[in-house]
Amino acid sequence: MSSINRQWVLRNRPKGAIADGDLELVERPVPETGEGQIRVRTLYLSLDPTNRTWMNDSEGYLPPVGLGDVMRGLTLGVVEDSRSERFAVGDVVTTAAGGWADYAVMNAADASRVHRAPGLPLTANMSVLGMTGMTAYFGVTDVLKAKAGETLVISAAAGAVGSIAGQIARQRGCRVIGIAGGPEKCAWLTRDLGFDAAIDYKNEDVGAALDRLAPDGIDLNFENVGGDIMIAVFNRLKV
Ligand SMILES: NC(=O)c1ccc[n+]([C@@H]2O[C@H](COP(=O)([O-])OP(=O)(O)OC[C@H]3O[C@@H](n4cnc5c(N)ncnc54)[C@H](OP(=O)(O)O)[C@@H]3O)[C@@H](O)[C@H]2O)c1
Repeated sequence: MSSINRQWVLRNRPKGAIADGDLELVERPVPETGEGQIRVRTLYLSLDPTNRTWMNDSEGYLPPVGLGDVMRGLTLGVVEDSRSERFAVGDVVTTAAGGWADYAVMNAADASRVHRAPGLPLTANMSVLGMTGMTAYFGVTDVLKAKAGETLVISAAAGAVGSIAGQIARQRGCRVIGIAGGPEKCAWLTRDLGFDAAIDYKNEDVGAALDRLAPDGIDLNFENVGGDIMIAVFNRLKV
């Protein structure tokens, strides 16, 4: 174990895009593990759109990251020290209590054991078997209750959530139209992921493309972006 813990600390609340100086890389000693706690060495960090919202000084579904605090993030890591009966050294866990750092000491209750699926890489637990996969799965099945024959439009379709949501909807028999930026991403959606159609929002008018691809209207929208794209889809929903 290294005795140095590199951490990204939030120094300024960004205005718009994150700029130099908003985050600072600092080196601190690795903290001691207290009673009921574990020390986790980070193996993977999930960088998600929601990270940016946590930098704002406004209450969301989680409180803002404090200035001077380690930046919050979902991580997957290995337990290197344990003073809890819940975890043994060597266990692999996911947690939101570690953040953008090499090491974190946390209460054992703040970590969840990773159940490894045979034949899948560890990173699957941060994608299709993790938060993004669950967001896509429950969004399609539980929120939208997508049914065979329905036309579903997904924005940010080549992103982490959208790309999985589209594949789940196809398996349920939906007709899936993805919206993504650029010809490569659109080709990936239709050629590799089985989407029925893709709209390149950077090079074509989304509304006109939706009128062409879904002339009878849209049944369902898995919305990942908002703004003009969302309005173009909403205006064509069968409601
Ligand atoms: N990841 C999760 O576990 C999770 C959980 C709950 C909710 N969510 C929410 O789900 C949504 C998607 O998350 P994600 O993790 O899939 O994101 P992601 O993989 O980072 O994909 C984001 C994509 O959004 C598109 N985008 C960004 N700004 C845009 C704009 N102004 N107009 C059009 N497209 C734009 C870009 O697609 P192009 O490259 O195609 O332009 C970008 O690649 C977000 O709203 C996020 O907050 C995510």
